[in-house]
Amino acid sequence: MRTLIPHNKSYWLVLVTAIAALLPFTSCKKEIRDLAANDLVASAAKPGGGGGGTPLTRSILNVPPYITASTFNLTAAPGTHNLGSAITSVWQYNDGMPGPTVVATKGDNISVTYQNNLPEPSIIHWHGMLVNHDNDGQPIQVIGAGASYDYHFPIINRAALNWYHPHPHMTIGKQVYNGLAGAFIIRDAEEAALNLPSGSYEVPLVLRDISLDKSGNPVYNPTGGGFFGKIPLVNGTRDPYLNVERAVYRFRVLIGSTSRVFKLALSNGAPFVLIGNDGGLLPLSSDQTTIEVAPGERLDLLVDFRSIASGTKIMLQELNTGWDLLEFRVTSNLISYSGALTTSSSVPVLTSPVTTRFFSFDGMGKINGKEYDMTRIDFEVPFGQTELWTFKTNGNGPHPVHIHGASFQVISRTGGRGQIFPWEAGWKDVVLVNDFETVNVLIRFDSYKGVYVMHCHKLEHEDNGMMMNFEVK
Ligand code: C2O
Ligand code: CU
Ligand code: CU
Repeated sequence: MRTLIPHNKSYWLVLVTAIAALLPFTSCKKEIRDLAANDLVASAAKPGGGGGGTPLTRSILNVPPYITASTFNLTAAPGTHNLGSAITSVWQYNDGMPGPTVVATKGDNISVTYQNNLPEPSIIHWHGMLVNHDNDGQPIQVIGAGASYDYHFPIINRAALNWYHPHPHMTIGKQVYNGLAGAFIIRDAEEAALNLPSGSYEVPLVLRDISLDKSGNPVYNPTGGGFFGKIPLVNGTRDPYLNVERAVYRFRVLIGSTSRVFKLALSNGAPFVLIGNDGGLLPLSSDQTTIEVAPGERLDLLVDFRSIASGTKIMLQELNTGWDLLEFRVTSNLISYSGALTTSSSVPVLTSPVTTRFFSFDGMGKINGKEYDMTRIDFEVPFGQTELWTFKTNGNGPHPVHIHGASFQVISRTGGRGQIFPWEAGWKDVVLVNDFETVNVLIRFDSYKGVYVMHCHKLEHEDNGMMMNFEVK
């Protein structure tokens, strides 16, 4: 597959030629071809400016359409996308970046026809979803350009925000970067009983970074160590704002960047009410003023705007860069709220592991000294057995470690940050392992037997081979 896309430049030429052929404005062919030279220009303004400077014209936040039917189609294809202030050429699911937000309920039977209209192989993986091997969209399951794949699976997860994205080997970073990702919300009775904010008061926020060339198209020139875009996007919108009423909102946050870790805060210093993460509701909600999350991780946050004066602007910020991500503009309507403002959930606790496994995340593309081989099964895991898995790294972090086929519970972190954070309680499917950290998790595969993968969710590391196959049997 490396030979298919031997080099970024050639890749862009292929993409761009394909797009140019499809689009009416072929006059931009020359400009787009210049893009192949990867000539990066620094984005004009530091998005939002982080205070001071010329006031920025903000664009209304894109909220992707919802799919609520249990039988639906997803088509991946090149297309154009409105960043809010400019049009850009991207790859999309169902013409959206992000793709539509799927909403399903535990117990539903889902049927999806995936149509790959990209100029190269791909496959959809349902990140966080407990599905069997055939429905898991692993690298070995890629389908070619023009082909389609039928998925059929029951929803057995509890309520949570999951997501879908491509999972080809060696090109996942590029495909996700180009715009292929979407949210997948699962509901259940436990969550429904809490009467949490819904409708326009529940907003998915897909956070990522991007760099644009001088004609406004995405540039992806990763190094082995990763890729860090120069500007943030929220739901595919650059410098967005969202009008919020004086109400309680529920934000479903997904870190959809390829490498970048996001440290979130509100500019007024108010806390988020942290109620959930990757695996749904936490054992106990808590107030958090800053939350740091890595690619693939999710957050379920309540923000109470009821006591905020109308006309106030509050910024969702990323503290590592100083980026302004999203401006909340508080309007005058006061909306009463009778749902939960704190939550608890009796999450079963895994204990007494029978087996211990050790994984060293080495360099920028190996686990336990090995590069991924999609035809090699690296180890076997007995079905239904609780195990202790240790993740360790000496450098080249952050490594957000992700496991398919089961959620896990983080029980310790030593070295580095040396603690477990409140958003790492309950069920997780990604855990951030920074340099010199050792993280222990308990895991039990009790949904399906079959081959699954574990990998670094820094997608450039994954593309380098920081991934393993294992078989649950
Ligand atoms: Cu989010 Cu193996 O993937
Ligand atoms: Cu996954
Ligand atoms: Cu990594």
